[in-house]
Amino acid sequence: MQFNFRCPTRIFFDEQCVQKYSSQLSALGRKALVVTGRTSSKRNGSLRDMIAAFSQEGIQYNVFDEVEENPSLKTVYRAANMARKLEAEFIVGIGGGSPMDAAKAVAVLATNNISEQDLMDKKWTADPLPIVAVPTTAGTGSEVTPYSILTVDWAETKKSIAGEKLFPAVAFMDARYTRNLPWNITINTAVDALSHSVEGFVNNRATVFSDLLALESISIIGRLLKTMTEDDITLSQREELLYASMLGGIVIAQTATGVIHALGYPLTYFKGLPHGLANGVVMKASLEFLAQSSPDRVEQVVKSMGCKDLEEFGNLLKKVLSPVDIKLTTREQDLYVAKTLQAKNIANCPKKPEEKDIYEILKNSSLV
Ligand SMILES: [Fe+2]
Repeated sequence: MQFNFRCPTRIFFDEQCVQKYSSQLSALGRKALVVTGRTSSKRNGSLRDMIAAFSQEGIQYNVFDEVEENPSLKTVYRAANMARKLEAEFIVGIGGGSPMDAAKAVAVLATNNISEQDLMDKKWTADPLPIVAVPTTAGTGSEVTPYSILTVDWAETKKSIAGEKLFPAVAFMDARYTRNLPWNITINTAVDALSHSVEGFVNNRATVFSDLLALESISIIGRLLKTMTEDDITLSQREELLYASMLGGIVIAQTATGVIHALGYPLTYFKGLPHGLANGVVMKASLEFLAQSSPDRVEQVVKSMGCKDLEEFGNLLKKVLSPVDIKLTTREQDLYVAKTLQAKNIANCPKKPEEKDIYEILKNSSLV
């Protein structure tokens, strides 16, 4: 047995944890920039709780609330300017994956005056500011990963930067913030979390320890996808989803993702499919490909989901996800395949997919 494992983030998972553990904030500094989206953190109470915690701790703050879905480099540079003006000592990301990932890039840029290219090439020298993450969706797991996924227009895709100092110092996880999430976002983000655990399990870098977390997360999500409905989803189910998503995040912090994310990115960039939905569309066919080299692993994924075979697994995803009616032209297929082959995470697959394999996955995902 051989592995290494790290999760340097201090996790507080509890109702009202922001309020209960506000002293964690003052330990990071006296001035904070909050990085969030336009509306959801105002509606779900998370921003209000954070501001109350700031005033309790005597922390000066400013709020950058312009993070869009799939944050652009332009946005993170604007927020970083605000952080520098405020002389922020730490950055708080509140929201789904987009604000939390943007917050990580802002933490880097606040201390490093570097170009977009140098940011993406990880050419920063000063340590990023400490990061606090408050997830308000259950999917990305960004609160416990060293990754920031950004939309890079000059590369025509989403790209990630990674760094040990991009692990949030603190994650506050309160499922109440996910309570009023629309159903389609609940499902898409749950499927994103599922893809993290699936890709981290059928992965060259998987270990006994990451497997434990991945299978637990897959079985929770499988059970919930079968039982919860739009009209009947409880706070404790939401809490389980948030927990499963966190487990998936801890898994990919060790293993990184694989072919599902690599192929999902162009579907999001060029077709605007939400991230989790894009992953869900190619998940079954990707598992068919992975089963060629790792049949036992894929079998364990299917069983943990509570399904008898991959067919049933695929049908379950189809049932819960919104239908996607996309047929790619030959030119689009060529482009998406090229983008997927350029993604470094495909090297984590037990058998690295070749060009023909990616075409096959597109075809078997009914995208052709
Ligand atoms: Fe993801």
